[in-house]
Order: sequence, then C-alpha cells, then structure tokens
Amino acid sequence: MDTEITLRVDGADHRLTVDTRTTLLDALRERLGNTSPKKGCDHGQCGACTVLLDGRRANSCLALAVAHDGADVVTAAGLATDGELHPMQRSFIEHDAFQCGYCTPGQIVSAVAMVEEAATGWPSAVTFTPPAGPDAAPDLGPVDLAAQPDEIRERMSGNLCRCAAYANMIPAIQEVAR
Ligand code: FES
Repeated sequence: MDTEITLRVDGADHRLTVDTRTTLLDALRERLGNTSPKKGCDHGQCGACTVLLDGRRANSCLALAVAHDGADVVTAAGLATDGELHPMQRSFIEHDAFQCGYCTPGQIVSAVAMVEEAATGWPSAVTFTPPAGPDAAPDLGPVDLAAQPDEIRERMSGNLCRCAAYANMIPAIQEVAR
C-alpha cells in the first residue's frame, strides 16, 4: 500500500509516496537520491546506514519510512554547512581514519551523535551498571570521551569497519570531543 509522507532531509523538505514496507534507508537512497547513508548488511548489524533521526542516531535500514512521517533526518552529507566540513569530517580526514570509506558516513554520523550524547550526560557505557531497584536513578553525569578511548570503542561498537581502520578513528573522535 502506498502512503504519502514528508521528510526533512539535510535541511530540505520532501514529500514522497512510499510503499509501507519501504525502509528509511531505501527512501533516502532510491527515492531521494541521497546515497550518503550506505547499505551494508540491511538488517541492523553494521551501522553503515546510520543517520540522525530527530537528533538521535538510528540505523535507517531498520526504520520504516512511514513510521517517521514528518521526521528530521540528517545524513553525513548534511553535516557540512556553507561549504565547510563538519569538525568530525575534518578530523577523520586529518587522522586518516578510513581505508575504503564505505562505512565512513555512518561512522561520522554516529561519532557526532556520540560526542553530543556524552556531553549531555548519558551513563558511562563502560562503567554503567543497572540501578539496583526500580526507583534507583542511573548516573547521568557527562562522560569525558577525550580521556576515555574505551568509552569511544564501546559507544561506536554498532559501527563496523571491514578494513579495521578503528585505530585512527579513536584519536579523530578524541580531538573533536576535547
Ligand atoms: Fe543498516 Fe547495516 S545497513 S545496519
């Protein structure tokens, strides 16, 4: 069944008709021609399709487009503004944090979101232990990513790189997190 939806993608509004089974990834790539998010596994395993969906990172291959009518989507292509690369994009280049580059858009979107998540106080991914009781509040203090490469590895573990270029991604992300 076809349904009409609107999406804001990288700051531009689009109205499109999609089959209810169309994923957000396919809507972006095949309907809107935005090939920045990549199709790796197509079932939530690799992170190559990561986008910001209403400000939170999401695997667009797992999201149905119709479920996100009216959503604000940002892809790696939309991170650059006024012809200037986003600091995370620049840092990946300066640190040579990729090899073939296929996973890079997803890595960068995920890293940008992670730095914001850490700064605004998500529980430590490495040291967090679930609260003891139903009413216990978790530690929501900010996480100093620049000083904690293990946090970066843990929080980026949903983004795989077949070339294993991880070693240079860590300092690239640390530089932006400082
Ligand atoms: Fe979406 Fe791999 S293509 S997680």
